[in-house]
Amino acid sequence: MDPNDRDYTNGEITVHWRPNYCIHATTCYRELIEVFNPRKRPWVDMQGAPTERIIEIVRKCPTRALTYDWSDPSRVSDKPDSEADEMPDSEKDDLQESNMVEINVMKDGPYVVAGNFKITGSDDKELKKMVITSLCRCGNSDSMPLCDGSHRMSDFSDNED
Ligand code: SF4
Ligand code: FES
Repeated sequence: MDPNDRDYTNGEITVHWRPNYCIHATTCYRELIEVFNPRKRPWVDMQGAPTERIIEIVRKCPTRALTYDWSDPSRVSDKPDSEADEMPDSEKDDLQESNMVEINVMKDGPYVVAGNFKITGSDDKELKKMVITSLCRCGNSDSMPLCDGSHRMSDFSDNED
């Protein structure tokens, strides 16, 4: 377990967050800001929504940075078996085997790129091997060309005021 990993519980379930797997894709907080609010500390408020709704959003996390465990051991949880398990193998295989690369523009956030691709730097070195990542669209990332979540702090918005 990474020392930066965090657990949040409401007694019924525990939500696990693994920041190393978070690509700041914005899915969780766009859909459930009452629970996942990166501007607050702690950023997850387990009292913000009913358990089933929290599970629904946790399951949408594209990289499995978010997973959950039931407190009741007789219920089926969704916890990664290992650090390497950032998404179900079947989904990873599908992405790797397909020649498709999908790019989604996240509202007020990065480009999320998924599929069989590689990113090389100006020195021709491969930057990162992956099947899903996010590319900065706001210009504020300290990890260019990858998104590091800075769009939240810079109030990057697609709306033209
Ligand atoms: S990768 Fe998962 S945890 Fe990170 S912002 Fe997206 S949905 Fe939330
Ligand atoms: S879009 Fe996320 S840091 Fe720029």
